[in-house]
Amino acid sequence: MHLVGRPRLPLRQLNRARASRAFTVLAIESSADDTGVAVVTSSGQILSNVVIKQHTVHEGYGGIHPFEAVRAHQRNLPGAVRDALSVAQLRATDVDGIAFTRGPGMRGCLGVGASAAKTLAAALDKPVVGVHHMQAHALTALLTEASAPPTFPFLTLLVSGGHTLLLLATSRTEFRILATTPDESIGRVFDKVSRMLEIPWTSLGPGAALEDFCRDAAVQEGSMTVPNLPRSMPGVMGFSFAGLHSAVERFIRTQGGIGCLDESTRRALAAEFQRAAVGQLEEKVRLALKWSRGAGHDVRHVVVSGGVASNAYLRERLRLTVGDASLGSPIALVFPPPALCTDNAVMIAWASMHRFLAGDVDEYSILVRPKWNIEELSV
Ligand code: KG4
Ligand code: ZN
Repeated sequence: MHLVGRPRLPLRQLNRARASRAFTVLAIESSADDTGVAVVTSSGQILSNVVIKQHTVHEGYGGIHPFEAVRAHQRNLPGAVRDALSVAQLRATDVDGIAFTRGPGMRGCLGVGASAAKTLAAALDKPVVGVHHMQAHALTALLTEASAPPTFPFLTLLVSGGHTLLLLATSRTEFRILATTPDESIGRVFDKVSRMLEIPWTSLGPGAALEDFCRDAAVQEGSMTVPNLPRSMPGVMGFSFAGLHSAVERFIRTQGGIGCLDESTRRALAAEFQRAAVGQLEEKVRLALKWSRGAGHDVRHVVVSGGVASNAYLRERLRLTVGDASLGSPIALVFPPPALCTDNAVMIAWASMHRFLAGDVDEYSILVRPKWNIEELSV
């Protein structure tokens, strides 16, 4: 038997939901190594936000292990759905729509969330929407800055373990990629350098531990001088962190290994790495603002999100960069709260909302898109 999915949310059902109360979405995020489930309403109320992290599963692999990530999503997702409903004090039947991360991301991981979402939706006879993960990151500020939301067009810089991306958002569905990276993401390079420098993690992740480690770094007498690390691709709208990573590695090797560096040199090296990595972000934001002005886009907001955006040094430097570029009319720098900058399902629910409300929903047979260019959102 061939079952046909739901083409559009029937107006009757939509109007009922609109008339009675806010539209309530249960969303699932499983694109990489965090299992997220959230319940969010169309009025922007976050009724629950469950995130189950997997970093302990992947710690020994030096990156996300795809097979282990799928297994962890399979293990964690049912409990996360139960918890999200229970915290929201709702039954599954109370939810109006189900959203999930359709892509981009790791195929197996996306599949776990997509199957769960579509099956739930079909069984409950609810509409389903598959969401672009990066669009969701980019639209988060419209939820978190509800009292003074960024106005289109705005720039958004996504800096995390999975992404290093600078976008121009001209509407909820139209984005232009201004800069991205062909190699490693900034977050992964923070992680690798943190490991190379043998910085203790404690309860912080490796990137935050590096920031902490070099907070008051000053080269002490008798310590080695650390070299100035390269700013990759000056003048070009693109990121690259692999060269920076190699430069740190090379310096450590030429000194005879990490065991030959005293603590003050390690701190100075961490600080120089952070300065070079953030310096690259500063330069690209400066270039993007200049390009936007030239192209006639009146950008008034720069939204910075992703795990690396919680770095205080980065915040300070970008504040100076955007302040300098403000030329008469101010440009606001917006940092959504860290808990909603890292991967979560609240952003997925929020990014699906305009589609649910417009009745533009997906069929139950919709497939994941592990590779999905944000410039081709509507294709
Ligand atoms: O957005 P996020 O939580 O999730 C993934 O992309 O998976 O980003 C995590 C990344 C990690 O690489 C982490 O080390 C980095 O963000 N990170 C930081 C800081 N806090 C988290 N990097 C630099 N400084 C920080 N304070
Ligand atoms: Zn993400």
